[in-house]
Amino acid sequence: MTTASTSAGTARGRAGRVLTAAALAWIGAAAGQVAWSQEQAPTAEARTTRSGVYTAEQAARGESTFGSLCTGCHTLADFSTPAFAKKWNGLPLADFFALISETMPEDFPGSLKPDEYAQVTAYVLRVNRMPAGQSALPADREALKQIRFELSDD
Ligand code: HEC
Repeated sequence: MTTASTSAGTARGRAGRVLTAAALAWIGAAAGQVAWSQEQAPTAEARTTRSGVYTAEQAARGESTFGSLCTGCHTLADFSTPAFAKKWNGLPLADFFALISETMPEDFPGSLKPDEYAQVTAYVLRVNRMPAGQSALPADREALKQIRFELSDD
Protein backbone atom coordinates (compact mmCIF):
# COMPACT_ATOMS: atom_id res chain seq x y z
CA MET A 1 0.00 0.00 0.00
CA THR A 2 1.37 3.47 -0.92
CA THR A 3 1.03 6.56 1.18
CA ALA A 4 -1.26 8.12 -1.47
CA SER A 5 -3.75 5.29 -1.49
CA THR A 6 -3.72 5.22 2.30
CA SER A 7 -4.65 8.88 2.56
CA ALA A 8 -7.29 8.48 -0.15
CA GLY A 9 -8.70 5.64 1.87
CA THR A 10 -8.67 7.85 4.94
CA ALA A 11 -10.45 10.61 3.03
CA ARG A 12 -13.15 8.20 1.89
CA GLY A 13 -13.38 6.94 5.40
CA ARG A 14 -13.84 10.47 6.67
CA ALA A 15 -16.50 11.20 4.07
CA GLY A 16 -18.22 8.00 5.11
CA ARG A 17 -18.16 9.03 8.73
CA VAL A 18 -19.53 12.48 7.90
CA LEU A 19 -22.36 10.90 5.95
CA THR A 20 -23.03 8.48 8.73
CA ALA A 21 -23.12 11.29 11.25
CA ALA A 22 -25.54 13.23 9.04
CA ALA A 23 -27.68 10.14 8.57
CA LEU A 24 -27.66 9.50 12.30
CA ALA A 25 -28.63 13.09 12.99
CA TRP A 26 -31.50 12.77 10.53
CA ILE A 27 -32.64 9.47 12.01
CA GLY A 28 -32.29 10.99 15.45
CA ALA A 29 -34.48 13.91 14.44
CA ALA A 30 -37.03 11.56 12.90
CA ALA A 31 -36.97 9.38 16.01
CA GLY A 32 -37.40 12.48 18.10
CA GLN A 33 -40.50 13.32 16.13
CA VAL A 34 -41.86 9.83 16.59
CA ALA A 35 -41.17 10.02 20.31
CA TRP A 36 -42.84 13.42 20.36
CA SER A 37 -45.98 12.19 18.64
CA GLN A 38 -46.08 9.14 20.89
CA GLU A 39 -45.91 11.44 23.89
CA GLN A 40 -48.77 13.50 22.54
CA ALA A 41 -51.15 10.58 22.27
CA PRO A 42 -51.00 9.51 25.94
CA THR A 43 -51.23 13.15 26.98
CA ALA A 44 -54.43 13.50 25.01
CA GLU A 45 -55.71 10.30 26.62
CA ALA A 46 -54.56 11.22 30.09
CA ARG A 47 -57.42 13.58 30.74
CA THR A 48 -58.54 13.58 34.30
CA THR A 49 -61.42 15.05 36.27
CA ARG A 50 -59.19 18.13 36.69
CA SER A 51 -59.23 18.89 32.97
CA GLY A 52 -62.67 20.56 32.91
CA VAL A 53 -64.56 17.55 31.58
CA TYR A 54 -68.18 18.58 32.25
CA THR A 55 -70.23 21.76 31.91
CA ALA A 56 -71.75 23.77 34.73
CA GLU A 57 -75.17 23.39 33.11
CA GLN A 58 -74.78 19.61 33.04
CA ALA A 59 -73.89 19.50 36.73
CA ALA A 60 -76.89 21.69 37.56
CA ARG A 61 -79.17 19.20 35.80
CA GLY A 62 -77.45 16.40 37.63
CA GLU A 63 -78.10 18.16 40.90
CA SER A 64 -81.86 18.13 40.40
CA THR A 65 -81.83 14.51 39.23
CA PHE A 66 -79.76 13.54 42.23
CA GLY A 67 -82.08 15.47 44.53
CA SER A 68 -85.17 13.69 43.29
CA LEU A 69 -83.85 10.17 42.62
CA CYS A 70 -80.81 9.53 44.77
CA THR A 71 -81.13 11.41 48.04
CA GLY A 72 -83.71 8.95 49.33
CA CYS A 73 -80.81 6.61 50.07
CA HIS A 74 -77.69 8.79 49.73
CA THR A 75 -76.48 12.05 51.06
CA LEU A 76 -74.15 14.13 48.99
CA ALA A 77 -71.44 13.54 51.54
CA ASP A 78 -71.38 9.85 50.52
CA PHE A 79 -69.70 10.87 47.26
CA SER A 80 -67.18 13.41 48.46
CA THR A 81 -65.38 11.66 51.29
CA PRO A 82 -61.65 10.80 51.28
CA ALA A 83 -62.74 7.14 51.12
CA PHE A 84 -64.74 7.84 47.97
CA ALA A 85 -61.72 9.58 46.40
CA LYS A 86 -59.41 6.72 47.37
CA LYS A 87 -61.79 4.18 45.91
CA TRP A 88 -62.17 5.93 42.55
CA ASN A 89 -58.91 7.78 41.97
CA GLY A 90 -57.03 6.43 38.97
CA LEU A 91 -60.08 4.61 37.63
CA PRO A 92 -61.79 5.70 34.43
CA LEU A 93 -65.05 7.62 34.64
CA ALA A 94 -66.49 4.83 32.50
CA ASP A 95 -66.44 2.56 35.57
CA PHE A 96 -68.45 4.99 37.66
CA PHE A 97 -70.85 5.68 34.80
CA ALA A 98 -71.34 1.94 34.25
CA LEU A 99 -71.89 1.30 37.96
CA ILE A 100 -74.58 3.91 38.39
CA SER A 101 -76.13 3.14 34.99
CA GLU A 102 -76.45 -0.55 35.81
CA THR A 103 -77.15 -0.59 39.54
CA MET A 104 -78.67 2.78 40.52
CA PRO A 105 -81.15 3.84 41.74
CA GLU A 106 -81.02 0.61 43.68
CA ASP A 107 -84.82 0.28 43.63
CA PHE A 108 -85.04 0.89 39.86
CA PRO A 109 -81.66 0.24 38.19
CA GLY A 110 -81.09 1.65 34.72
CA SER A 111 -84.22 3.79 34.86
CA LEU A 112 -82.46 7.02 33.89
CA LYS A 113 -81.40 8.04 30.40
CA PRO A 114 -77.67 7.84 29.62
CA ASP A 115 -77.56 11.65 29.50
CA GLU A 116 -79.03 11.79 32.98
CA TYR A 117 -76.41 9.39 34.34
CA ALA A 118 -73.77 11.61 32.75
CA GLN A 119 -75.35 14.66 34.40
CA VAL A 120 -75.33 12.97 37.79
CA THR A 121 -71.68 12.05 37.22
CA ALA A 122 -70.95 15.70 36.37
CA TYR A 123 -72.69 16.73 39.57
CA VAL A 124 -70.59 14.31 41.63
CA LEU A 125 -67.49 15.87 40.05
CA ARG A 126 -68.71 19.34 40.99
CA VAL A 127 -69.35 18.21 44.55
CA ASN A 128 -65.74 17.04 44.59
CA ARG A 129 -64.65 20.56 43.55
CA MET A 130 -63.51 19.47 40.10
CA PRO A 131 -63.53 22.33 37.56
CA ALA A 132 -66.27 22.68 34.93
CA GLY A 133 -65.21 23.20 31.32
CA GLN A 134 -66.49 23.97 27.85
CA SER A 135 -67.65 20.57 26.71
CA ALA A 136 -70.16 18.28 28.32
CA LEU A 137 -69.21 14.95 29.81
CA PRO A 138 -70.16 12.39 27.16
CA ALA A 139 -72.75 9.73 27.99
CA ASP A 140 -70.54 7.26 26.17
CA ARG A 141 -68.45 4.57 27.84
CA GLU A 142 -65.70 4.51 25.23
CA ALA A 143 -65.16 8.24 25.62
CA LEU A 144 -65.40 8.00 29.41
CA LYS A 145 -62.64 5.37 29.43
CA GLN A 146 -60.26 8.16 28.41
CA ILE A 147 -60.94 10.25 31.52
CA ARG A 148 -59.67 9.24 34.97
CA PHE A 149 -60.68 10.25 38.44
CA GLU A 150 -58.21 12.54 40.11
CA LEU A 151 -60.05 13.75 43.19
CA SER A 152 -58.45 15.31 46.21
CA ASP A 153 -58.44 12.76 49.00
CA ASP A 154 -58.05 15.05 52.00
C1 HEC B 1 -83.16 2.59 47.15
C2 HEC B 1 -81.92 3.11 47.64
C3 HEC B 1 -80.94 3.74 46.66
C4 HEC B 1 -81.20 4.70 45.71
C5 HEC B 1 -82.52 5.37 45.37
C6 HEC B 1 -79.95 5.00 45.10
N1 HEC B 1 -78.95 4.24 45.65
FE1 HEC B 1 -76.96 4.29 45.19
N2 HEC B 1 -76.60 2.85 46.52
C7 HEC B 1 -77.54 2.24 47.34
C8 HEC B 1 -76.88 1.23 48.13
C9 HEC B 1 -77.56 0.34 49.17
C10 HEC B 1 -75.52 1.25 47.76
C11 HEC B 1 -74.39 0.38 48.29
C12 HEC B 1 -74.31 -0.80 47.37
C13 HEC B 1 -73.10 -1.61 47.65
O1 HEC B 1 -72.14 -1.07 48.20
O2 HEC B 1 -73.11 -2.78 47.29
C14 HEC B 1 -75.36 2.28 46.76
C15 HEC B 1 -74.15 2.61 46.17
C16 HEC B 1 -73.99 3.63 45.27
C17 HEC B 1 -72.73 4.05 44.71
C18 HEC B 1 -71.38 3.46 45.01
C19 HEC B 1 -70.79 4.28 46.13
C20 HEC B 1 -69.29 4.27 46.20
O3 HEC B 1 -68.77 4.47 47.29
O4 HEC B 1 -68.64 4.10 45.18
C21 HEC B 1 -72.99 5.08 43.88
C22 HEC B 1 -71.99 5.88 43.10
C23 HEC B 1 -74.41 5.31 43.91
N3 HEC B 1 -74.99 4.42 44.76
C24 HEC B 1 -75.04 6.28 43.18
C25 HEC B 1 -76.40 6.46 43.16
C26 HEC B 1 -77.05 7.43 42.31
C27 HEC B 1 -76.33 8.36 41.35
C28 HEC B 1 -78.37 7.33 42.55
C29 HEC B 1 -79.49 8.11 41.88
C30 HEC B 1 -79.55 7.99 40.44
C31 HEC B 1 -78.55 6.30 43.56
N4 HEC B 1 -77.34 5.80 43.91
C32 HEC B 1 -79.76 5.94 44.09
C33 HEC B 1 -78.87 2.56 47.42
C34 HEC B 1 -79.52 3.46 46.61
